[in-house]
Amino acid sequence: MNEMVEKIITRHAIRKFQDRQIEESVLEQILQAGLYAPSAGNNQYSRIVVCQDKEVNLRLGQLNRSMDMVHTADPKKIRPVSAEQPSIRDDLTIKDAFYSAPTVLALFVRSGYYAHEDVAFMAENMWLAAHFLGVGACYIGRAEKTFDTEYGRELRQKWGVPEDMTPVGHLLLGYREGPEPHSKPRKPLRTFIAVVLTLALPVWYSMATSNTATTVPAMNSDQPNMVNRDMVALTQFRSKISAPMLPIMVKKSLAASKIVL
Ligand SMILES: Cc1cc2nc3c(=O)[nH]c(=O)nc-3n(C[C@H](O)[C@H](O)[C@H](O)COP(=O)(O)O)c2cc1C
Repeated sequence: MNEMVEKIITRHAIRKFQDRQIEESVLEQILQAGLYAPSAGNNQYSRIVVCQDKEVNLRLGQLNRSMDMVHTADPKKIRPVSAEQPSIRDDLTIKDAFYSAPTVLALFVRSGYYAHEDVAFMAENMWLAAHFLGVGACYIGRAEKTFDTEYGRELRQKWGVPEDMTPVGHLLLGYREGPEPHSKPRKPLRTFIAVVLTLALPVWYSMATSNTATTVPAMNSDQPNMVNRDMVALTQFRSKISAPMLPIMVKKSLAASKIVL
């Protein structure tokens, strides 16, 4: 497997952090990765606020925690998120939804087309960059609700976030405490095999039906010219391979789709 792809699939949500702050040079690289994320129509509408103030992050994290409706949900219906890196849903005693991360990025965007997608791409770029640099990260939602509070509005003003900016999410950053978690298994069949078959079937069909086009009229039927001889040979070859090719193509398609899965 490609080294980069391997790295991408070993990214995890990290929720246990060391008390140590990340270095400025490391943070700078992560932010650069975020700023170079694609944006719809190159609008570059998203904005990042870096907060490394312990008290502010704790207060905001507690507010964010209170916005999660897990405490009102039926405990039987709460799906576990992670045993190794428990979330506020796994452990109701965790009162800080930012898990004491030393750096919290608040992600804002000017409302418009694809605003949320822009932030998602930016967040993922930074999450991956953090992972490549050995920094743990986790995306946290509920930003709109969190900033729609007295303290949230106060902070926005203090940070100078323009009125027309919507808070979308947060990215936590910090060095991981404890061992690296295992990858969570991914649900099967999330890539649709038909997508691969739609590629294979037309190829097979065109090969099979090209038999009917064998009769390229000979310039001189007694002495077929070179072109005709080649066409006949090619057609015979196609008709021989087209039928047995289908199961092979399907098998290869399935194998390829399994790799994707
Ligand atoms: C849109 C989005 C919102 C998320 N919100 C939270 C959150 O509020 N709290 C949290 O602990 N994790 C949150 N996560 C992290 C997911 O729980 C995590 O990505 C998921 O469990 C899969 O684990 P993995 O990232 O280690 O593969 C969020 C992830 C995404 C993409």
